Amino acid sequence: LSSKEKYKIGFSQCTTGDDWRKSMHREMMIELAFFPDFELVIKDANDNSDQQINDIRQLLEEKIDLLIVSPNESEPITPIVEEVYNSGIPVIVIDRQIASEAYTAYIGANNYLIGKEAGDYAVKLLNGKGKIVEITGLQGSSPAINRHNGFMEVISQYPEIELVASESGKWNYSDSKTVMQNFVNQKLNFDLIFSHNDRIARAAYEVIAANNISDKFILGIDGLLGDDGGIEDVIDGKIDATFLYPTGGAEAIQLADKILNKQPFERINILETVVIDNNNAKILKLQYEAVDDLQGKIENQKSVLENQIARFKSQRSFLIVVLVLLAAI
Ligand code: FRU
Repeated sequence: LSSKEKYKIGFSQCTTGDDWRKSMHREMMIELAFFPDFELVIKDANDNSDQQINDIRQLLEEKIDLLIVSPNESEPITPIVEEVYNSGIPVIVIDRQIASEAYTAYIGANNYLIGKEAGDYAVKLLNGKGKIVEITGLQGSSPAINRHNGFMEVISQYPEIELVASESGKWNYSDSKTVMQNFVNQKLNFDLIFSHNDRIARAAYEVIAANNISDKFILGIDGLLGDDGGIEDVIDGKIDATFLYPTGGAEAIQLADKILNKQPFERINILETVVIDNNNAKILKLQYEAVDDLQGKIENQKSVLENQIARFKSQRSFLIVVLVLLAAI
């Protein structure tokens, strides 16, 4: 065990604005309650790779003991991550990957597999025949590349299925709206939209709905709970299916603990995915809500306990003062 009192973990996040990232942070915070000797510093690169490089430099200056990084784009972020790793600071890569092996551990779902599962699902919906448009994530980011490649591996085996267009929605709602509107303006003939995440799927749904187009299948990825999440959109019939993309927030903190405290750990940690459609969306929603409820209660109990401890401490100091005064009399 190290003699250090506290470990400083720097987390370079490619973006923090969306619900998936917020959910990752929440999972980390919940997990951190078990590790009072950890301090977590999160830097938001705002979807900008240059910013992310600066953020990592900044974290180095702040003398972090371990770096967690979710690279905005693989190639541009690789050299700085290599630099950190080669300087002896452990690196956990989470969700998006770098283009090298210079890291201590990786945690995230298998995006190639998710792409394949989406491909299988599309084939089923289309009965082996139809036209597809794809709206991808940010082009240089690894999940966008792998989700596309996995999807293509499956659909390319079906001669009567054709990918008629593929454009980047850069993971976000507004760019995806523009892409979908362009598809509609071009009068593209298609039966199914493969969206690389649920925000893209929602944007695509809204554009086609506004254009009175309704007979299209839509697939998304992420499967978050909440009003803007994919589970709700499946229940509401806005999209046909989404694929759970776990954030790995809790596991990243557990992994950091093992690495920092020199315990054995897995280098590559692949998280499970599952298809969410009409068959399981409602039950998943109920289960997630029950877990959320329980978590809320745990947090309440914690603050009640903290209050009681604080009261106990102040009563104790009051007592000590009284005793000291009595002794002086
Ligand atoms: C969140 C997000 C998710 C997507 C993931 C890919 O920032 O865009 O919607 O699944 O990043 O890295």
